[in-house]
Amino acid sequence: VTTTEEPAIVDSPPLSNLTQEELKRIAGYKAVEFVESGMVIGLGTGSTAKYAVARISELLREGKLKDIIGIPTSTTTHQQAVSLGIPLSDLDSHPVVDLSIDGADEVDPALNLVKGRGGSLLREKMIEGASKKFVVIVDESKLVKYIGGSGLAVPVEVVPFCCDFTRGKLEELFKEAGCKAKLRMKKSGSNGGGDAAPAVTDNGNYVVDLYLERDIGDLEAASKEILRFPGVVEHGMFLGMATTLIVAGKFGVTVKDR
Ligand code: 5RP
Repeated sequence: VTTTEEPAIVDSPPLSNLTQEELKRIAGYKAVEFVESGMVIGLGTGSTAKYAVARISELLREGKLKDIIGIPTSTTTHQQAVSLGIPLSDLDSHPVVDLSIDGADEVDPALNLVKGRGGSLLREKMIEGASKKFVVIVDESKLVKYIGGSGLAVPVEVVPFCCDFTRGKLEELFKEAGCKAKLRMKKSGSNGGGDAAPAVTDNGNYVVDLYLERDIGDLEAASKEILRFPGVVEHGMFLGMATTLIVAGKFGVTVKDR
């Protein structure tokens, strides 16, 4: 356990020649070292988490892990896990999760996260919030000085009903931080080339992306304010939830506990 901002454990030589994709794989594989036979595992979503899911299935096939139950955080991860033969369940049947492994879009020095640029924040927050241990896996590009500091968005899942009303309320809430709130649209070509349409989450909701010019300061207060709007389902700030951070970067792999 460390309280410094420096990496706690450096257990590999410098990885400076590796691509970002290779760093994601290294972080994903490292997290699976925390998995033990018999565990219920929250399976994260995204281009980093997919490596952890693949590694778990590999170890199951080799007989090095046994009796794992996976709880997928998205329909995409559900499909990946089914295709790899990982036994699956859900929070209704397994309300306590031993360990979750997932990526993040941003990680601040206190291990607060932004998640949901892949659109899966609600299921991720439900499953990772029910986990005894939550291991976050990132390459070093995700480390930020403050939440919103990468210049990319803080996502908020909203109900479709009058979503522009909710979008406007969110923009107004963070106007001091220069917030621009934008309804997330489907990627071009993903709706058959027709008119632009909002992106829809696994839960049938929309996403409003908050682009912040400045630090919003008190994150717990901001969280409460966001959740006060009835049209908001959940937001992508994961505050105080990560128990361990694994970072793969040019300095090697570091593991830091909160
Ligand atoms: C999906 C997420 C992902 O964990 C997050 O977007 C990081 O993804 P990646 O590892 O592909 O960068 O929150 O909703």
